[in-house]
Amino acid sequence: MRASWVKLLPLSCLYGASQGSPIHARNNSLIQPFHVDLSSRVPRMLDQIQNTKLPAQPVYVDTGSAKGIALSDLKSFREEWLTDFDWESEQNDINKFNHYTTLIEGLIIHFIYEKSNSSDAIPLLLLHGWPGSFLEFAPIIDQLTEQATTATGKKVSFDVIVPSLPGFAFSSAPPVNWTVPDTARVFNTLLTDVLKYNTYAVFGTDWGSGIAYTLYGQYNTTVRAAHLAFLPFFPLTPPELAAENITLTPLEEFEEANTVEWNNSGEGYFTEQTTKPNTIGLALQDSPIGQLAWIGEKFLNWSDPNAGTYPSVLTHNAILTSVSLYYLTESFASSVVIYAQNPNGFSSVYSKATTDAPLLFSAFKYNVGFWPPALVAKAGNLVLYRNHESGGHFPGLDNPVALVEDLREVGSNWGESV
Ligand SMILES: *[C@@H]1O[C@H](CO)[C@@H](O)[C@H](O)[C@H]1NC(C)=O
Ligand SMILES: *[C@@H]1O[C@H](CO)[C@@H](O)[C@H](O)[C@H]1NC(C)=O
Ligand SMILES: *[C@@H]1O[C@H](CO)[C@@H](O)[C@H](O)[C@H]1NC(C)=O
Ligand SMILES: *[C@@H]1O[C@H](CO)[C@@H](O)[C@H](O)[C@H]1NC(C)=O
Ligand SMILES: *[C@@H]1O[C@H](CO)[C@@H](O)[C@H](O)[C@H]1NC(C)=O
Ligand SMILES: *[C@@H]1O[C@H](CO)[C@@H](O)[C@H](O)[C@H]1NC(C)=O
Ligand SMILES: *[C@@H]1O[C@H](CO)[C@@H](O)[C@H](O)[C@H]1NC(C)=O
Repeated sequence: MRASWVKLLPLSCLYGASQGSPIHARNNSLIQPFHVDLSSRVPRMLDQIQNTKLPAQPVYVDTGSAKGIALSDLKSFREEWLTDFDWESEQNDINKFNHYTTLIEGLIIHFIYEKSNSSDAIPLLLLHGWPGSFLEFAPIIDQLTEQATTATGKKVSFDVIVPSLPGFAFSSAPPVNWTVPDTARVFNTLLTDVLKYNTYAVFGTDWGSGIAYTLYGQYNTTVRAAHLAFLPFFPLTPPELAAENITLTPLEEFEEANTVEWNNSGEGYFTEQTTKPNTIGLALQDSPIGQLAWIGEKFLNWSDPNAGTYPSVLTHNAILTSVSLYYLTESFASSVVIYAQNPNGFSSVYSKATTDAPLLFSAFKYNVGFWPPALVAKAGNLVLYRNHESGGHFPGLDNPVALVEDLREVGSNWGESV
């Protein structure tokens, strides 16, 4: 088994493979402990950062960050990357988690797996999107495994599973024509066949919300609760909301305006990655500064202006770690194809998932998609909706405190209909 396993690994996924002995899950499928070691690629990254020439002055009129990442931001991030960033230290932190890989349908799937001490812990699958990674959940994994109490006084703790989506970090690049439902099926196999859970809960944001929503509707005997921070349905315009008799609070008005702005002037990357993924993929694959501009702009533009101060841990260092992970794993080009492979991944026609399982939703003020409760309720059995005054598109990083609290409410809604 070991021999065929190794033969199937694309070379790009072998670095960092741990020498530790494989673990056999209860049905003998193989899960392999995995240790992140990208150190040998760091010198080239630093050379590339150092040698990239940036213009002295903005080439186009200086509009701050309104027309894309500000040159001044790019320069100061570059300086920080070269002088005040330590990949070894980040890698040590990353390796404090238990990482594994397994082979499902011919794809290497990388995942973090942290179990609670509690025997009645709820298995919880956490799904990132683009330009995220498993790093989005690093601040909340340990807390979720610890026993806590829900608002209704129930004890709750989780076994936490954080996979890398196909194409991201250490998971294989997706095959041609691979879709969100394919990823959902593979992750359901991971939770049921490989890790041997009968039922589990799923959280998803960005593309992860599409995968989570598919799991919620299509795997309704195993997925017994879903929690989303984004929906795979396009938000409505203000006139469309009005036509549905949906009125908005001031916080919701702000979020709606942010969404309309994303739609009007912030979706260029979305169209590019849907229509010409290879152009942007190849353009940036070997350019850390290019990836910093393309990805870093999203981290900056889609998060709370107070990012990096409590409760946010989305510091400059966290952004540089995320971009470094994309560069060092050589996964930028494979990460963007999810858009091209799922041109209808976000739908304008809302449909209700065929499940009686509870759906929870967390909205964050600076996110770039907003769905009032009445819209989320069109997608499933909405039992809890919370809207937060701080945080944005990467809640695990820019409002981990609220996200943990909300996720624990899965415990309040767990069990009744299992
Ligand atoms: C879980 O159990 C291990 C081993 O018994 C112990 O070292 C650890 O402190 C426990 N963690 C929690 C959160 O209770
Ligand atoms: C992928 O989908 C396209 C369009 O449907 C089809 O023409 C092509 O044969 C498919 N490729 C594979 C490898 O299945
Ligand atoms: C064990 O898991 C593998 C991998 O998901 C699956 O293909 C296989 O059918 C499972 N075998 C049994 C006996 O459950
Ligand atoms: C986004 O733009 C598209 C057309 O480009 C439009 O159909 C859609 O209604 C807009 N949505 C929002 C929320 O502004
Ligand atoms: C909105 O409210 C108006 C007036 O009460 C009503 O006629 C209409 O049917 C409502 N529309 C929807 C979509 O509920
Ligand atoms: C974010 O991007 C929008 C356009 O999508 C722009 O109007 C806005 O100024 C940007 N804001 C920041 C803080 O970068
Ligand atoms: C699961 O979905 C099927 C239809 O796809 C439906 O018939 C069934 O009632 C659903 N089960 C639950 C538990 O919601």
